[in-house]
Amino acid sequence: MTRTGKSPRLSQHMAEPFVEIHPADATHHGIGDADIVRVSSPRGDVLVRALVTARQRQGSVFAPMHWTDQFSAKGRLDTLTAPLTDPVSGQPALKHVGARIEKFAARAFGFAVVRRKPVAVAADYWAVAKCKGGWRVELAFADDDIDWAGFAGSLFDVPVADTLAYHDRDTGQHRIAAFDDQHLAGALFIASGPVAVSRGWAAQQLQEVHTSQRERFRIVAGRAGADRPDAGATVCSCFSVGVNQIAAAVAAGCTTVEAIGGALKAGTNCGSCRSEIRAVIQANRVQAAE
Ligand code: FES
Repeated sequence: MTRTGKSPRLSQHMAEPFVEIHPADATHHGIGDADIVRVSSPRGDVLVRALVTARQRQGSVFAPMHWTDQFSAKGRLDTLTAPLTDPVSGQPALKHVGARIEKFAARAFGFAVVRRKPVAVAADYWAVAKCKGGWRVELAFADDDIDWAGFAGSLFDVPVADTLAYHDRDTGQHRIAAFDDQHLAGALFIASGPVAVSRGWAAQQLQEVHTSQRERFRIVAGRAGADRPDAGATVCSCFSVGVNQIAAAVAAGCTTVEAIGGALKAGTNCGSCRSEIRAVIQANRVQAAE
């Protein structure tokens, strides 16, 4: 998240408020990767996505402070901390606080891409981030007894000419895509667990022309065609390089950050993604060895 939230490229990286938690702490609290969690202090609480990672020191958690009420339902970290300042320097003590973490009992999770920024989102957890051609929306609900077609209509908020939908009430899967002429007005994906749809691919559909029913059904299926490989979650924002592209380069023999930079440019500008590239290389080399 940037100060204005207006940069699609920078919003691709982590497009929602999150908390990093060590795997041992996550297991202890019954929290899985990508669950929604409540972090609370005596002053307030926030709802954020859990990112389970050994990067985080055991016994403490980390969450970025940049989310506001404009872009998330309950992601403001300042609601947890006290307005104290150091008596000598005047430095605010806003960056650390004792906190409790627990899993939010979500019965439904959602992800959507929409052309217009939603005015109001009727979900317990939501976060919106700018993408090229519109907005991406992360969602979670404490209740799953919801009229999903009605919810999609309120989220898309544009007149639509054609709607395709898939509903499987037994598994809690619902997918709705609405088109206005040849363009996607919005697509909503609902599941009983964290939604496994490629965010980059789904957001890209807002910029494309969808003339055939076959292309439109691909959106409802939530999958890119075999001829359109998914770049995966963005690792290098400077060059828009995704985790799947880096993994493919590792499989092709690029086993250092420098080699990845030579092949994909990733990591060769500001350098802030280099440690993440190193982690992707390491994970894929271990996987290959196993
Ligand atoms: S994010 Fe700047 S070089 Fe990758």
